[in-house]
Amino acid sequence: AKARHFKWEVSNMFWSPDCEEKVLIGINGQFPGPTIRAKAGDTVVVELKNGLHTEGVVIHWHGIRQIGTPWADGTASISQCAINPEETFTYRFVVDKPGTYFYHGHYGMQRAAGLYGSLIVDVADGEEEPFKYDGELNLLLSDWYHESIYTQMVGLSSKPFRWIGEPQSLLINGRGKFNCSLAAAHTPGTEKCTAGGNRQCAPVVFPVLSNKTYRLRVASTTSLASLNLAVGNHKLTVVEADGNYVDPFVVDDIDIYSGDSYSVLLTTDQNPSSNYWVSVGVRGRQPKTAPALAVLNYRPNGAFRLPALAPPATPEWNDYAHSKAFTYRILSRAGTPPPPATSNRRIELLNTQNRMDGHIKWSINNMSMVLPATPYLGSLKMGLKSAMSAARPADTFGRGYDVTQPPANPNTTVGGNVYVIEHNTTVDVVLQNANALAQNVSEVHPWHLHGHDFWVLGYGDGAFLGDAGDAARLNLKNPPLRNTAVIFPYGWTAIRFVADNPGVWAFHCHIEPHLHMGMGVIFAEAVDRVGEVPKAAVSCGATATALMAGDHV
Ligand code: C2O
Ligand code: CU
Repeated sequence: AKARHFKWEVSNMFWSPDCEEKVLIGINGQFPGPTIRAKAGDTVVVELKNGLHTEGVVIHWHGIRQIGTPWADGTASISQCAINPEETFTYRFVVDKPGTYFYHGHYGMQRAAGLYGSLIVDVADGEEEPFKYDGELNLLLSDWYHESIYTQMVGLSSKPFRWIGEPQSLLINGRGKFNCSLAAAHTPGTEKCTAGGNRQCAPVVFPVLSNKTYRLRVASTTSLASLNLAVGNHKLTVVEADGNYVDPFVVDDIDIYSGDSYSVLLTTDQNPSSNYWVSVGVRGRQPKTAPALAVLNYRPNGAFRLPALAPPATPEWNDYAHSKAFTYRILSRAGTPPPPATSNRRIELLNTQNRMDGHIKWSINNMSMVLPATPYLGSLKMGLKSAMSAARPADTFGRGYDVTQPPANPNTTVGGNVYVIEHNTTVDVVLQNANALAQNVSEVHPWHLHGHDFWVLGYGDGAFLGDAGDAARLNLKNPPLRNTAVIFPYGWTAIRFVADNPGVWAFHCHIEPHLHMGMGVIFAEAVDRVGEVPKAAVSCGATATALMAGDHV
């Protein structure tokens, strides 16, 4: 195993991801940020300098469990202080498991400002993937807004509330089109965009050779959009989800929620005289954003010889049967560790949209999460009394809540939502979806856990019936291991994890505005067993460091 060193500077810069110039957050002058490529067992070292002039920054390594290094998880207010302007913080962590991952800002809504990139971990030397392929294509998917994140954040916390709306464009590897389409010939009423050139918004071209198998690594770091990906005329074989191998299955298209990653195999077995569209469209919300298109370029055809066929159509946004059929097929590959047969604790989390004093919030068991000034990893490790709010979040919301109706009591409060988790216990979490404030509205929420993979034991429609029924019907045989799991409208999702990684871990909806509106909880896991926390993580600036004795907390 090797150490892989990166020296990065985060800064604001002008960029035109969809051909309209805006300001975004880039790394070393690039957008998306540089791709990290490492082998399982390597240590990744990122010296991160904050070159934003007036705000802090942190970077989270999404999907990396940070075993033994909770201070490198990159969550502001949770695992570390935000890095001040001009400061450098060094992230050092082991990438223990091969897979398709990504990284992103985890302070305010900086992810939505473009602070993200790919993180790909290959198998260790001498190891082999359990499937064969000839080449790789990387697709980091995101959505893009023309309003700045500051305007978005002010709107979300204003009275009256101003929703951010749908994104202006979808991006593949940071490139998209606004107000025009590459496939205008097939999309009546749209203007044709120019295909070539080396502009920042030039479409992505994936060169391939005929009769080969490619591994597409697909990850979504969208702010809001749930996506669907298809490649014209080609089948996709799903082999990996969130850095875990799955029992392979073949589909025409895949759904991908924010926080998810997949590997799919594609065989270039179609007529080689043509190129094909890679199409990414919106699911789960009434789409107001045009699909993103890229070109699968069968060499030696010209890269910009646009496919003659129409791009594959995205399934209807509200065809949840299609989404569920896909999601339910994801099962672990033989050889994946099975979950413990029983759990020590079940935490049931009701997801509701509520009002607080004229503001609109997302609440978990009627408590909307707010983050503290002092990162929990430091304050809990030091046993500071001020660390936790007095109100302890509940393990259950009780049976009898009518998930089909807007909340009977729409009022909520804010809290830390900190759950204290005992070392090495097995914890089940049931995420229960419900109706939002408006009648007949229930949204999709992809929940992401830091510090762990979890087994997805099951999904269901309506209210979770607990020991009366659903708890006995969970899949303990071949549940997939993941770090992100979706809850469907009006449904529930049950997961299980083993609390074997001391630290303070966020568990939250990966939709950026939802997290901003409080949709998350914190798992404070065996914090007394956390090793020495580097001072730089939980104190800010040289004076803070100097005021404290020793290098560790
Ligand atoms: Cu990718 Cu806490 O998120
Ligand atoms: Cu959400």
